[in-house]
Amino acid sequence: MTGLQVTQGAAHSKIYAVGGYRPRRSVTNAEICTMIDSSDEWIQTRSGIKERRWASPDETVQAMAVAAGRAALARTELAPGQIDVVIVSTVTHFHATPAIATRIAAELGAKGAAAFDISAACAGFCYGIAMADSMIRTGTARHVLVIGAERLSDITDKHDRGTAFLFADGAGAAVVGPSDEPGIGPVVWGSDGDQADLITQTAAFDVAARQTGVNHQDFPTLRMDGNPVFRWASYTMAKVAAEAMDRAGVGPDQIDVFAPHQANLRIVDAMFRALKLPDRVVIAKDIEYQGNTSAASIPLALEALLESGEAHSGQTALIIGFGAGLVYAGQVIVLP
Ligand SMILES: CC(C)(COP(=O)(O)OP(=O)(O)OC[C@H]1O[C@@H](n2cnc3c(N)ncnc32)[C@H](O)[C@@H]1OP(=O)(O)O)[C@@H](O)C(=O)NCCC(=O)NCCS
Repeated sequence: MTGLQVTQGAAHSKIYAVGGYRPRRSVTNAEICTMIDSSDEWIQTRSGIKERRWASPDETVQAMAVAAGRAALARTELAPGQIDVVIVSTVTHFHATPAIATRIAAELGAKGAAAFDISAACAGFCYGIAMADSMIRTGTARHVLVIGAERLSDITDKHDRGTAFLFADGAGAAVVGPSDEPGIGPVVWGSDGDQADLITQTAAFDVAARQTGVNHQDFPTLRMDGNPVFRWASYTMAKVAAEAMDRAGVGPDQIDVFAPHQANLRIVDAMFRALKLPDRVVIAKDIEYQGNTSAASIPLALEALLESGEAHSGQTALIIGFGAGLVYAGQVIVLP
């Protein structure tokens, strides 16, 4: 006999609120150019970045994640104790165990919540939103806090021309909960491990530790084969975003806001053109002052658009994350 009881959750889920934390210190292109042979003009033309934020020692992954989580929660009616699951996407928490998510849940007051980390690089926020949506609709959770938090400056080689100007620090969060109306469309996600070497660490941490002793200065850093990644992001990812619209049953005319991962402004523009989104669509350009903050970039961009009044609650947004792995995930959401 198969008499197991199974849970059934809410009919739909939606994002209740987003929140972010931006490190205090802005790093200009002029400062970057003291470390690499480049120019403000080259960096702006090739990436769209004018400034980025680099965290100070006290702005840890945990501190930034907690601040972002609090900012998102403060925009809801929920108490921290009502959060059932905390998902933290990060590639810059340097302990394989325990996960940083448990400490973040405890500090936030989400006592006893299920808590775990995911490693899905710049797709991490969209992976987390997909999981939160599934959990809420299957009844394994009612309220889920999804956080993307990164200190990429810790694993950036400040003298590498291919990455020093791109990567940055910050945290963004979203509270997801049940809804009567659909608020999160079907995710289109996947990976391409055959291209894993395009963005990777120069060494595993254990190898580095054995070779050098645990010295922060000798940390492995990120290396990226920028041009193939650029082409993959601009063309293949536009197709994924188009599929996300298809699966949600919305056409370009029904999209109000386009908020892809903030990797490079030229990628954002190329995807926007490939998707044939109407000119009235509001485009997230948070990269200009934040750089590439990996899993934090989409919630930070959404928060900025909502706070500035460029985007509004109830509007339809297309989000897509993509990066090291290679991994990707995109969905259509209703803005909180
Ligand atoms: C990194 C990136 C901005 C480089 O831009 P690009 O247009 O691909 O530039 P290229 O690497 O082809 O280099 C073009 C030229 O600029 C030069 N160059 C490279 N880095 C430079 C720098 N920091 N400053 C000045 N010149 C630079 C190169 O030497 C090359 O010169 P050449 O034409 O004389 O050979 C771009 O490839 C990119 O954004 N890639 C994807 C990033 C991304 O999406 N990541 C997602 C995962 S997180």
